[in-house]
Amino acid sequence: MCGILGYLGDGETLSILFNGLKRLEYRGYDSAGIAVLNKQDVFLIKDKGTISEICKPELFSQINGHLGIAHTRWATHGEPNKDNAHPHFDCKKEIFLVHNGIIENYNTLKRFLENKNHKFISETDSEVLVHLIEHFYNDNLEVAVSKALALVEGTFGLIVIHKKNKEMVIAKRGSPLIIGVGEGDIFVSSDAAALIEYTKKVIYLEDNDIAVIQEGNYSIKNLSGQDVIREIHEIKWDLNQIEKKGFKHFMLKEIFEQPESLSNVLRGRIKNDKIKLTIDLNPSSLSRIIITACGTSWHSALIGKYLIEKIVGIPVEVDYASEFRYRDSIINKNDLVIVLSQSGETADTLAALRKSKSRGAQTLGIVNVVGSTISREVDSGIYLHAGPEIGVASTKAFTSQVVTLLLISLFIKQNQGYKLDNILLNEILSLPEKVKIILDKQDDIKKIAEIFKSKNNFLYLGRGINFPVALEGALKLKEISYIHAEGYPAAEMKHGPIALIDKEMPVVFLATNGTVFEKILSNIEEVRARGGKIITVTDREDESIKRLSDYVLYVPKTIEEISPIINSIPLQLLAYHIADLKGLNVDRPRNLAKSVTVE
Ligand code: M6R
Repeated sequence: MCGILGYLGDGETLSILFNGLKRLEYRGYDSAGIAVLNKQDVFLIKDKGTISEICKPELFSQINGHLGIAHTRWATHGEPNKDNAHPHFDCKKEIFLVHNGIIENYNTLKRFLENKNHKFISETDSEVLVHLIEHFYNDNLEVAVSKALALVEGTFGLIVIHKKNKEMVIAKRGSPLIIGVGEGDIFVSSDAAALIEYTKKVIYLEDNDIAVIQEGNYSIKNLSGQDVIREIHEIKWDLNQIEKKGFKHFMLKEIFEQPESLSNVLRGRIKNDKIKLTIDLNPSSLSRIIITACGTSWHSALIGKYLIEKIVGIPVEVDYASEFRYRDSIINKNDLVIVLSQSGETADTLAALRKSKSRGAQTLGIVNVVGSTISREVDSGIYLHAGPEIGVASTKAFTSQVVTLLLISLFIKQNQGYKLDNILLNEILSLPEKVKIILDKQDDIKKIAEIFKSKNNFLYLGRGINFPVALEGALKLKEISYIHAEGYPAAEMKHGPIALIDKEMPVVFLATNGTVFEKILSNIEEVRARGGKIITVTDREDESIKRLSDYVLYVPKTIEEISPIINSIPLQLLAYHIADLKGLNVDRPRNLAKSVTVE
């Protein structure tokens, strides 16, 4: 889940790498480093911390190279420190490498290399690669990299340079890697965000591709040595979409972008009371749907289960991708496997997709990042068009995922020959307006955040289709504020968690109108009787809600199928303001990274 970047051209190499690396920090930010080929010498800077802490802009004018590589790290093997930071180098300090991924057989390779007198400085798996390349190096870097990778088990996106040559050798297996084709200069990166400022022309490498980048040109082969052709794609978004635009944090900006991201996911997909999706789904050959995902995407998958089973009547199973990939999951040819991922790069979700395909299931991806690995490997797919999501805590992608699952449910229903309910369609179309109304009440939510910011624990309770929203609310809070929070189905409380309730415990209830409204009122009573502090999200001007709750957050009225989208907005804002009031780095919570590309 690290970010890697390479540059070859006549621009200001150090500053290009520095700026690009900052845009990759959502992939990891515990240590960073840059190596620039400066005539026959290599300027190397690396340490614990972010690139802004390590490399000062005064250096930009002093380093004049035209070739360089950079890395921002999320530690897997070895703690964040200077030795473990990338770029890594060989014994002679001639070959430099940045790597994203995990080398699974690094212990065996390390022993082999130590027996050949290679000296290791770091505790990382990545350093093994650079020594292995050194072992095979005989004046041809590409050949040495190919020979080394033939012995490697695991995943990699890597860039290697040798101080004698003005070239980069890059390779990919299981970790994303793209080439950016500029005007005379060439970029390599884990993600288009790092190079969008300079070029919109990108080439997505496939697994087992190896490429040699030289001045103004590149050649791509597979690791078996055959030439391969990879198309140039045009990126459709621009720099301004990955800037904060005056917001204090990306997360807050992304929460506030939801009226727009929801309009985007709906655009052209509801017309004349019909759902228009360019996917081929035949309900008669569909016996079961499996949805697999991780984290927040797994929460939208759970909401998808409620929606599909209610609207379509086909059984749906929801699985954590990390479990699905390794257990003896039963996958049949008549199953549709829906793979949900904002990034389209999550390692476990990708593995779950590959497993489903190998068992002959039909696969459908719901992905935000255009051109990502999952989006390229699924049989068919729907993009969220939410725009780049930079904040580690997922917000706008979540609400767009839920809308997409709702559209898919209605699309299947329509294909079953049913006419769709107009009221529901109109409610979906009114979502951007309703979300705006909640965003306008930000100050009310901030007041509640101020009151509860010092608590050590939180409970989030919901029922039915809003139970996954409780899970999502708790995840948002814990990942950015470090407050312990749990989401629970409200009725399960009395089977254990109710023991936690005392007057110190804030309990957030999702109590909007719907089939379980009366039931949840009883659950609120139960918590009130035990002294818990009650914060209720509701759309009902109900006396009993007011009487039972310490604080009420009103949301616009809607119908049950839409309520998870509406109800998640105040929870995003509550988590954001608590974390911000605590002075925490909301966009870069400790120990986390945006794309989890390692298992
Ligand atoms: O990119 P993906 O949707 O596959 O990512 C899945 C999770 O890693 C992600 O949702 C994570 O849980 C977020 N930090 C939640 O805010």
